[in-house]
Amino acid sequence: MVTTVQKPEFEELRPGIKTPAKETILTPRFYTTDFEEMAKMDLSVNEDELRAIIAEFKQDYNRHHFVRNADFEQSWDHIDGETRRLFVEFLERSCTAEFSGFLLYKELGRRLKNTNPLLAEGFNLMSRDEARHAGFLNKALTDFNLSLDLGFLTKSRKYTFFKPKFIFYATYLSEKIGYWRYITIYRHLEQNPESRIYPIFKFFENWCQDENRHGDFFDAVLKAKPEFLNDWRAKLWCRFFLLSVFATMYLNDLHRSGFYASIGLDARDYDKKVIEKTNETAGRVFPIILDIENPNFYGKLEKCFSNCEQLRAIDASTSPAPIKFLRKLPLFVSNAAQFIGLYFIKPLQTDTLQGCVR
Ligand SMILES: [Fe+2]
Ligand SMILES: [Fe+2]
Repeated sequence: MVTTVQKPEFEELRPGIKTPAKETILTPRFYTTDFEEMAKMDLSVNEDELRAIIAEFKQDYNRHHFVRNADFEQSWDHIDGETRRLFVEFLERSCTAEFSGFLLYKELGRRLKNTNPLLAEGFNLMSRDEARHAGFLNKALTDFNLSLDLGFLTKSRKYTFFKPKFIFYATYLSEKIGYWRYITIYRHLEQNPESRIYPIFKFFENWCQDENRHGDFFDAVLKAKPEFLNDWRAKLWCRFFLLSVFATMYLNDLHRSGFYASIGLDARDYDKKVIEKTNETAGRVFPIILDIENPNFYGKLEKCFSNCEQLRAIDASTSPAPIKFLRKLPLFVSNAAQFIGLYFIKPLQTDTLQGCVR
């Protein structure tokens, strides 16, 4: 009997090299910052902790971890159709996010080498880890007969400028949420090995420890700069970053719930767990965390999700552009209103939560 593998079509730059996914507000971003301001940052008040974390980075526990073993040596053609499309998308998004971390840390390591050697050393060691993570994911894409041209990605992507303070809020959160995402998938598959349909998930246990250590490095940097954490502005910005990171993940993951279903996870339950854990972790550094138990929190996120699905349907329709725009406008307005509503849900002050969430 001859069976035909259902392979989704992907746009290619060259044979086997996938055209990067279109950039949208929800795709992983590339960042740049004010290197001079970063060079002048005095971290001496928390230098001991930073040195201890750097010493741990140097131990390089995962030096031999990212090696493709015999588990990969088989055909993956049985992952086909929509599941295959979702798998490729997951690997591409993860690879792009890891690679974005690599580029930022590498550039910071290079530029701060002489002016702020302590920070530079931390960034260089973290870029070593992110390069491994991105490389491992890109190699996994070859199991699906594709890969990303990371050099092309470096040159073609737009870079978002953030001042150092915002870089630290954003990287701290993305490392910690990365840790919770990887470990939650790992633990779920440990309990449900029949759902581990591809071997990369076995690597997530040690992998997430890299992200956890990176998060600890940024935790220590933030603690060296109390002015980033202890005034009313810090509270407003921490709120904004927590909300942006959680909302982006929720909208992305719900849209791809098929991927999570393919490994036996419910995307909503998974995201709620990751948000709960990351919010709780952030309470060790940030002056506030979000009140995710407020019923409006997930209510408003669900409304955004339903708006985004409608926006995608309009985009995919054949209506002329001006009609599409008119149909989309109320949904954009609603999304903005939901986001503002979410922002104004009273946050929890972490200094009053001693002994609860810390
Ligand atoms: Fe990473
Ligand atoms: Fe990381």
